Amino acid sequence: MLNRKDVLGLRDMSKEEILEILSVAKEMKQRIDHPHLRVDELRHTSIVTLFYENSTRTKTSFALAGKYLGATVQDLGIATSSVNKGESLIDTGKTLDQMGIEVMIMRNSLTGAPHVLARNVNAHVINAGDGSNEHPTQALLDLFTISEYKKSFEGLKVAIIGDISHSRVARSNVFGLQKLGADVTLAGPSTLLGSAQLLKVKTTSDIKEAVKDADVVMGLRIQFERQKTTNFPGIGEYRELFGINREILKYAKKDVLVMHPGPVNRGVELSTDVIDGGNSVINIQVKNGVAVRMAILKLLAKGGNQ
Ligand code: CP
Repeated sequence: MLNRKDVLGLRDMSKEEILEILSVAKEMKQRIDHPHLRVDELRHTSIVTLFYENSTRTKTSFALAGKYLGATVQDLGIATSSVNKGESLIDTGKTLDQMGIEVMIMRNSLTGAPHVLARNVNAHVINAGDGSNEHPTQALLDLFTISEYKKSFEGLKVAIIGDISHSRVARSNVFGLQKLGADVTLAGPSTLLGSAQLLKVKTTSDIKEAVKDADVVMGLRIQFERQKTTNFPGIGEYRELFGINREILKYAKKDVLVMHPGPVNRGVELSTDVIDGGNSVINIQVKNGVAVRMAILKLLAKGGNQ
């Protein structure tokens, strides 16, 4: 069982904890595929989702994950909540705590917001994405998906391509992949590689160099909403230099996995034939998101060390 109160990032998660989540996710995936295997293990658990930023996959899959385990799941629709009357994050958290909420799942544009919430509530807090910092459950579902196709992470060549500077997905994946022994290269326009230097991994603005002999190629969404200045001349140029298409994939291994956390800007980060092609596991990532989030909820709520 996870001996922790919260899941805030992969930077502070051990290899053993990651492997435990992946192992339980495998069991949970069986339960999704075979509903008669489902057990209401979290029958008396109350979960709330607090999404201060938009989401389709993360919010819905957490809601489904909780329901498949028998929990009560309530969404705090931020737009119609007292947040809009000026209530602070801490006061919102303490209010939900008093109602007996045991798990709070939060997405926020501010780096560290889930950490602040976690310090101020009794409930378990799960980070569903904080600014450009971390998106741990996305990385865990990415790791789980890779583990379904590749024998080992040791020495696995992974190229992560795109808007690295603003990507919480890239950061969480780097932490997780490195702990499991993978060889990670980050690639993108030099103007979008800034914070990558801090991650102690290879970086390049030559996509062919990054993709050469790769076992996994992960595209990232260009996060226009977080870019305060123009970081490249235009979409056309970005597509030309950093778009993942069939020609680029010829540099990778034949059985390369093509991944993307979604939502994808079709024809920009990835060409449509690659998104829908035989090497793409993007839809599998979405499905695995439910299983991995079931595993996290089960391990936290059943075994979390308060
Ligand atoms: N990958 C991801 O976080 O997707 P959503 O924004 O739809 O949750």
